[in-house]
Amino acid sequence: MRLPAVTLAILAAITTTAAFANEMERVTPIAHAATQKECGECHMAFQPQLLPAASWGRIMDDLATHFGDNASLDPQAVVDIRAYLTSNAGRLGDGRLTRITEQRWWTREHDFRAHIWSRPDVRSKSNCTACHRDADKGLYEDN
Ligand code: HEC
Ligand code: HEC
Repeated sequence: MRLPAVTLAILAAITTTAAFANEMERVTPIAHAATQKECGECHMAFQPQLLPAASWGRIMDDLATHFGDNASLDPQAVVDIRAYLTSNAGRLGDGRLTRITEQRWWTREHDFRAHIWSRPDVRSKSNCTACHRDADKGLYEDN
């Protein structure tokens, strides 16, 4: 069977995003004390593999206006955390986006009805531990 090029491109894109989500089933837990502490204060500290290096760079460039919060740190901590996050970053994903929850692999896996996100035990898409009990250990395969 001969498929038109556009169909092949769509199939390739679907396969890639599905494989990418699978790759995130288990990510390496955070092994950097400063990242765990400073980036785990207001939300779970997200594992570096969940975003590409460019996204982490953008986040670390602007901690003063961090998603409506001030997450500023002293300059040395910024250097250390940036180095840890970027050198352990994921291979794929859109480096223009600073949210994990806006990455295409993520939205495809989490295409739920609106009322799910407003449940009092969920509240926010970024509240990974609400649904992935062991998210802080890098485990996302169990819901
Ligand atoms: C002062 C509180 C605070 C600190 C400290 C903080 N954050 Fe955040 N962060 C937030 C808030 C608020 C949001 C938006 C949460 C939401 O929309 O649900 C957020 C969101 C994020 C997101 C996007 C989550 C998504 O929706 O995909 C990332 C990535 C992130 N933070 C990384 C970091 C990193 C890296 C650090 C450490 C350098 C850090 N945060 C420290 C408050 C903080
Ligand atoms: C409201 C509950 C909920 C929240 C919040 C949530 N997830 Fe999920 N997540 C799920 C469910 C349910 C699935 C399985 C979807 C499926 O099998 O089609 C899933 C799938 C995944 C997968 C794919 C796992 C696999 O087996 O391929 C990853 C990775 C993931 N989530 C990461 C995250 C991250 C990171 C966060 C926080 C930024 C998050 N999730 C927030 C419910 C949630």
